Amino acid sequence: MSERLVTMLSQEQIAARVKELGAQIAAEYKDRHVVLVVVLKGSFIFAADLCRAIDMTTVRVDFLGVRSYGEGTETSGVVQITQDLSKPIAGEDVIIVEDIVDTGLTIAHLMDLFRTRQPRSVKVCALLHKPARARVEVKVDYLGFTIEDKFVVGYGLDFAERYRNLPYIGVVERS
Ligand code: IMP
Ligand code: MG
Repeated sequence: MSERLVTMLSQEQIAARVKELGAQIAAEYKDRHVVLVVVLKGSFIFAADLCRAIDMTTVRVDFLGVRSYGEGTETSGVVQITQDLSKPIAGEDVIIVEDIVDTGLTIAHLMDLFRTRQPRSVKVCALLHKPARARVEVKVDYLGFTIEDKFVVGYGLDFAERYRNLPYIGVVERS
């Protein structure tokens, strides 16, 4: 069986959209302090570009390690925190940075978890959204692209830990 990568979103398309998202966040938060919570591992490349597109001096970046049990391309819906934030978020304006909202279970779980920590506000910024697969409704405040129901890789997203380093978003096709 051979694998072929088909481009879904080019480097240029992603870069242009990330710039817009950064500008939108900067305009809405103005000179308020904001904490970007980067959901590892898939969001690390998106977050690196996004934080540089937010023209504010007071952005703090923190990381949250998350694993949803299950192998392959299906989430089990059970979300495990593998690495917690380095600092409390009480009283903070938080933006959760996600690579992709698929079933929505990860974001729903994180919203519930974060509410117990009393932040001032929590919003969600996701590069990709696959509405066809939603199992719970989640509000994505800042969204890069809505995509069809295909398993995508690249720009941080993996398939069994491969393809994270692709500079674009692609679909793996097997033949
Ligand atoms: P959820 O189903 O919304 O909870 O998404 C959970 C996580 O599954 C995402 O944050 C991604 O890390 C991963 N994921 C979902 N869809 C894809 C995909 O198409 N490619 C790579 N990872 C995905
Ligand atoms: Mg993720």
